[in-house]
Amino acid sequence: MQIRFSDAPAETAGSLSPPIIARIVDQDALPADLEPVLIEAAKATRFAGKAGQLFEGFVTRGENVVRVALAGAGEAAAKDRSSALEKAGAALTAKYLASGATSLTLDLAGSALSAEDVAAVLLGARLRGWRMDAYRTTLKPEQKVSLTEIVVQGAPEDAETVWQGEAALAEGVEFTRTLVTEPANVLYPESFVERCQTRFAGTGVELTVLDEPAMQALGMGALLGVSQGSVRPARMLAMVWNGGGDAKPTVFVGKGVTFDTGGISLKQPTGMEDMKWDMGGAGAVAGAMLALALRGAKAHVVGICGLVENMPDANAQRPGDVVTSMSGQTVEVINTDAEGRLVLCDALTWAQRTYAPARIVDLATLTGAIIAALANEYAGLFSNDEDLAKDLTAAGENSGERLWRFPMGPAYDKMIDSPIADMKNVGGRYGGSITAAQFIQRFIDKGTPWAHLDIAGMVWAEKSGATWDKGATGYGVRLLDRLVRDTLES
Ligand code: BES
Ligand code: MN
Ligand code: ZN
Repeated sequence: MQIRFSDAPAETAGSLSPPIIARIVDQDALPADLEPVLIEAAKATRFAGKAGQLFEGFVTRGENVVRVALAGAGEAAAKDRSSALEKAGAALTAKYLASGATSLTLDLAGSALSAEDVAAVLLGARLRGWRMDAYRTTLKPEQKVSLTEIVVQGAPEDAETVWQGEAALAEGVEFTRTLVTEPANVLYPESFVERCQTRFAGTGVELTVLDEPAMQALGMGALLGVSQGSVRPARMLAMVWNGGGDAKPTVFVGKGVTFDTGGISLKQPTGMEDMKWDMGGAGAVAGAMLALALRGAKAHVVGICGLVENMPDANAQRPGDVVTSMSGQTVEVINTDAEGRLVLCDALTWAQRTYAPARIVDLATLTGAIIAALANEYAGLFSNDEDLAKDLTAAGENSGERLWRFPMGPAYDKMIDSPIADMKNVGGRYGGSITAAQFIQRFIDKGTPWAHLDIAGMVWAEKSGATWDKGATGYGVRLLDRLVRDTLES
């Protein structure tokens, strides 16, 4: 979707259907300049301007019929004002995306919205207007996306500049959603890397790719053990953005299991197709790096993706196998379906040895248990550092991608001791998300602030939400971007 700022009057002559003129309306504050019939109609249909509420009416203006859309932005003084403004924008694209209309004019003349407010409306519109129809060949005309542009009129002078930053963020979210949506026959470790090589060309982000021989040479036995049942070779991808600031980077590490069958500890068939989005952590890291680069973030950030496919095969690893990780620590693989932590541990060791991070955040669709605990409302946060946990929690609140912190400690750590190796890859029956985090923590160097985000409940949505349709949400991009903005750039 194109967003265009223009103060020329909307073109109406020659168009077949009435132009859509949208207004952003605060709660219980219908604009006084609206035609009385629209005011009557809005009231009669109980349009009150609540966040995300939408009203549509037709009036004649001069010679033309005009389709007027009122999008509710809630109370002007609300503390979640920007998310309410996003909902107003989102309501417009949700309604008109496949309406047949190709263009929508957002009329801001006389509105009190600041440049930041306008950018929030546009971000909501853009994100809610994303859809992937690449594999649908039989859509009827009325099912196809028709809306291609939003023309913004009467915006404050600096709105376009502020929007450029938010547009970068939208690009990042959309890139993540595409990666997450692609099926696993199309998106596998090598093609994930190729997508990134294409997308990051010319952005100033420097990519480094490790193939299997390189990872073998580094001793990444845990990651390679997961990959050995797949015909798709594993990859490690690093994306470096050095936009200034500290010499030591903030490092983001993503779990990129492009498909998780469970391996020999095979998953049930029902719902297994969901495991194409088991690379959602890696997808979020790639999208966040893109957003940071496109908006020229003044920060030093490295994104790392551990990319593998987890398959059962004659060559697959077995329950009971012992693997040696890059750190030298050995792991008894009790359950080949607890593969994410095996991928992350080597990615984290490599990240620490290669980039000497100031702090490190990993994102992973790691456990079903986190969904049992938090449903689809919060991602789980686990950390060894109070400041980082606080910064992430705040970034979660401010971005709308919320985090809930879980406890960690020696009693949980003991639950992954193994009788034959340094540790096993699963704990007991209970506390599965915590024992997974304890496993990862064993690979974090003393003194390195670290946080683990278990995002299994957030990557994919069964129904549409505030700024996403059902499917890939792009979760994590806004969170990481917000963390960088608020802690490295301000
Ligand atoms: N990728 C899954 C976790 C997951 C489950 C993500 C559902 C999204 C939705 C992970 O690799 C896994 O299989 N975890 C196991 C761990 C268990 C074997 C200790 C789980 O959660 O059941
Ligand atoms: Mn698994
Ligand atoms: Zn998995």
